[in-house]
Amino acid sequence: MSLAYRIMYRVGFTPWDTGEVSSELRALVEDGDALPPGRALDIGCGTGTQAVYLAHHGWSVTGIDAVEQPLRRAHARAIAEGVSVEWFKADVARLTDLDLKPGYTLVFDRGCYHGLRSEQRAAYVAGVTALAVSGATLLVMAFEPNRILAAPPGADEAEITATFACWELTGAEPDRGPAPAGPLRNLARTWYRLVRRCPDAHRRSSLSATGDSHVLGHFRDRT
Ligand SMILES: C[S@@+](CC[C@H](N)C(=O)[O-])C[C@H]1O[C@@H](n2cnc3c(N)ncnc32)[C@H](O)[C@@H]1O
Repeated sequence: MSLAYRIMYRVGFTPWDTGEVSSELRALVEDGDALPPGRALDIGCGTGTQAVYLAHHGWSVTGIDAVEQPLRRAHARAIAEGVSVEWFKADVARLTDLDLKPGYTLVFDRGCYHGLRSEQRAAYVAGVTALAVSGATLLVMAFEPNRILAAPPGADEAEITATFACWELTGAEPDRGPAPAGPLRNLARTWYRLVRRCPDAHRRSSLSATGDSHVLGHFRDRT
C-alpha cells in the first residue's frame, strides 16, 4: 500500500490531503471535555496538517509516514508555522524498531490503519499499545470494508474491536468531513475512538526510554 501512496503523492492525486483539520480531532482538543495536552503520535501523518495543529495546541507530537515526499512538506509546514514536531520516515507496522519513548496519551490515525494488511495491523497494534499509556485515547478513521481495486481494504467495528484487544471502543461516529474526490467517495467513513485499558506493564521491554529527541531541523529515516 505504501508504494501506492508513493505513486499518488508523486502524481499529485491525494484526495485525503484537504489541508483541513478533522472536526473529530478538533473536538478532542478544543471542546469542553477536551483531553489535556500530552504526547501525540500521528500515524501515517502525510503532509502534517493534524500533527502541526496538535503542536499549536501544546501537544508534543511525533509524526510517522512511510513516504518521504509528504514528510518533507510536513517538516516545511512545521518550520513555517514555528512549531516543533518530531518526524519519522518509517513503517507503522515496525514501530518497535524506532527508539520512541513510551508515554503517548493520544494516538491519531486518519486513513492509515485501514490500508494495512492483517499481519501489518497486528504489528501496528502491538506497537501503539506499547507506546501508549494506560488510559490513552486512540482516534482512528477507516473506510468500510470494500473490494474496490487499489482502495484501502477498510475496517469495520468488529475487526477494530478484535484487533485492538487492549483497547476499549468508546465511540464510533461517521466522518463529518467532505467525501474524498474520486472512486472512493461513496464508501462510508467512520471515526473509532478507543481507550487503552491494559496496564502499562504490558509494554515491550525493547521500547526502553530514550532521551528527549525532538527535532525541528530534519526528519529521520527509519525505513
Ligand atoms: C490516506 S493518507 C492520510 C494522510 C494523513 N493522515 C491525512 O489525514 O492527510 C494515509 C497515509 O498513511 C501513510 N502510510 C500508509 N501505509 C503506511 C505504512 N505502512 N507506514 C507508514 N505510513 C504509511 C501513507 O503514506 C499516507 O500518507
